[in-house]
Parts: sequence; structure tokens; C-alpha cells
Amino acid sequence: MTDTLILEGTAGRFEVQVFATAHEAETAVLNLIGDAVATAITAEDKAVICGAGGSTPKPVYERLHTLDVAWDKVTLTQVDERFVLVDDPSSNTRMMREATSGIEGLTFLSLIQDADQALSAEKAEAALRALNDGEAPVFDVTLLGMGGDKHYASIFPQHPLNASIYDTETLVVPVAATDGSLEPKLPRLTLSVNALNRSRRIVLYITGKAKLEALREAIANPDKDTAPIGAFLKQLAQPVDIIWVA
Ligand code: 6PG
Repeated sequence: MTDTLILEGTAGRFEVQVFATAHEAETAVLNLIGDAVATAITAEDKAVICGAGGSTPKPVYERLHTLDVAWDKVTLTQVDERFVLVDDPSSNTRMMREATSGIEGLTFLSLIQDADQALSAEKAEAALRALNDGEAPVFDVTLLGMGGDKHYASIFPQHPLNASIYDTETLVVPVAATDGSLEPKLPRLTLSVNALNRSRRIVLYITGKAKLEALREAIANPDKDTAPIGAFLKQLAQPVDIIWVA
């Protein structure tokens, strides 16, 4: 049994589905992913899932195998990535590969495609375009997370990237690490807003009261530099499923 709450502000009006346990919230996210993938495979005989990194989605990836899906028709790729070696403890590639290692036939497309950050972004973009005959890919479902600082993907508050990430046609963008005072402390790769906007459906999964309050503030005041997630939601054309557990 779930509850809902409404967050409303300059960014718009958003319904948040509230769950009593993390397991129930994860199950809701899995069902949304499963529906999107099944619809895509029926329509196009293939599906692309774009997933966030970090800790919140890891249990979802670990339970993906429970979905009754033709996994050999599915590609899982990344919303963003820390630009580190793929066996580094902070690597999302490592986490996502390990979490889905039991899924026979699933194709995992990492944004880490080269030892050089700029080349990795270029090669990752080419690999993503290859999913759609050279055109920008369409993600059948994108699972987003959010930091307590209101960042999403690797689009952080007060980062110079905010001046261009909403307009660039580039799909995969290198993100410079900051001098340590602000995030990100690691260099990163992120999908651009234009890339993320090519998602047929977006699921934002967050946990904890602090993130809910941060989201509430971001929706109230969706400034690109101080509340990136709010600015993203404000410009989003398609509906977003927001899943939350305390
Ligand atoms: C990353 C993620 C990032 C993540 C948030 C929340 O690489 O860190 O892609 O955008 O979604 O930082 O992370 P947690 O789920 O670990 O709180």
C-alpha cells in the first residue's frame, strides 16, 4: 500500500509515490522498468535502460533479474559515470556490472570507453548512437537519482557546466572535477539534458527525508545553479514517476 504527496512550485506540480519500505519502493521502480522494457520489446524488438549510479539504485539493479524479460534484447547504459578505472570502488560501471552479472544476454554499455576523458565521451556517444542507427538514442526508461545538494546525473550546483548542459547537442559530456570545495571531486562523464530528454519515461528514485526536502525546495525554486534537479524537471516534457521512501 502506498501513499502519495504533491510537490508544487515554479518547476510545476509533481506527485511523489511514498512507500513504507525500501523493498517496496524498489519493487515499484522495477515494475516501471519492466513495463517500459516490455512495451519497447513488443514495439521495436529491443529496449534501452539508462541507469543512474550511486548507492540508491544498486538494489534495483541487483533485482533486475527477477523481471521476466528477453534480456538479450536489452541494453543497460549509464546516466553518468565517475571517470575512474572500471574496477575502482567508486566506479558505477563496476557496481552496475556486478549487480547485473547474473543476467544472461543483457548488454551493458559503459560510458568508460577510453583512458582519455574527452575520447571516452566521444566514443560513448558513438556507441549510444550505434543503438539507433547513428541517431541520438531513445531510452525506453531512465532511472535517475538525486544528491542531497540537488544534483542529478553529474550535473552539480555551481558548476560551470550548467551554462551549457541544457542546450548542447552533445550527448555525452566530460565533467571537470572541482578544486575540492564543491562536487564533483572526481572527473565525470554525464549525459546532457538533451540526451536525457530523449527518455520515453523517467523514474526519479530517492530516499530519506533530507532528499525529499531538497526536492521540495528544488521544485519551488528550480534554479540551474542552485537546484539542478528542479531546473531539469521544469523543462521536462514527459511525465516523471517519483518514488520515495523515508
Ligand atoms: C553518481 C550518480 C548520481 C547519484 C546521486 C545520488 O554517479 O553519483 O549518478 O547522480 O544519482 O549522487 O547518489 P546516491 O544514490 O548514492 O545517494
